[in-house]
Amino acid sequence: MSRDAQGHLLPGRVSPSRHVPTSIPRPEYVGKAEPGAYGGDDRYNADEVERIRASGRIAAQALEAVAAAIRPGVTTDELDAIAHEFMVRHDAYPSTLGYRGYPKSICTSVNEVICHGIPDDTVLLDGDLINIDITAFHDGMHGDVNASFGVGEVSLETADLITRTEEALSRGIKAVAPGREINVIGRAIESYARRFGYGVVKDYTGHGVGTAFHSGLVIPHYDASPDYATIMEPGMVFTIEPMLTIGTPEHPGTTEWDEWDDGWTVVTRDRSLTAQFEHTLVVTERGAEILTLP
Ligand code: MF3
Ligand code: CO
Ligand code: CO
Repeated sequence: MSRDAQGHLLPGRVSPSRHVPTSIPRPEYVGKAEPGAYGGDDRYNADEVERIRASGRIAAQALEAVAAAIRPGVTTDELDAIAHEFMVRHDAYPSTLGYRGYPKSICTSVNEVICHGIPDDTVLLDGDLINIDITAFHDGMHGDVNASFGVGEVSLETADLITRTEEALSRGIKAVAPGREINVIGRAIESYARRFGYGVVKDYTGHGVGTAFHSGLVIPHYDASPDYATIMEPGMVFTIEPMLTIGTPEHPGTTEWDEWDDGWTVVTRDRSLTAQFEHTLVVTERGAEILTLP
């Protein structure tokens, strides 16, 4: 039903948007076509960082709850329900719900879906790869995290892509230090990915996060030098969220992805497998500290 003859994904049926009690404060963009312009900067004081950490913890714990439910036979809509209920129970608003019209509480990106897969009645099958991306809004702050998982027993190719994408994120985080240019992050990620012949998605990036879901600060996952030379400073908060693909690496100036007619789901043009991992982090005096830990 939700796969074609080659086993590639087809859009499924999307259930109605889930309800959030009106007692839980909503981000300003909910009910609007797009977020208001963000004027603030990307640096936060210690109290604000703790508030982002609290949101990040809720998102990370919701991710754990979803991970425990991933198995062949479950639908991505059932995973959405688990994350939604977890966040609401912890007084958090699921940031994606109503963001630029996005209809669901998390993103579920299966196999060739690079990012922004919409939970629907797609049934997970043994051997699938799924990314779960969760952002929680609590006490005025967003925390944004994602991880990829194998469903049941996966091929070595799939397992390797998952492990190496997580390692790519880890190398990106280790490249963070005050005084360095933002572009060192993508350089570390891309040079690691290239060892395995993986492609790095260029058109979707990390971002400043905190008061705003996407602040305007862009964190490339490829070597963008001499561009993206903003100097990292203590207190800056942003995500790193590399998307690696098994297919042909992208060439400069080309976009080797397609978007479904739903206006959200981004797939590799060659329908090859892709994985992603994401953390929200703060730049410290010595390096970086992850704010999206359970
Ligand atoms: N959480 C995603 C990110 O990492 C953004 C999802 S926006 C949505 O930036 F609208 F697609 F949900
Ligand atoms: Co993000
Ligand atoms: Co995210």
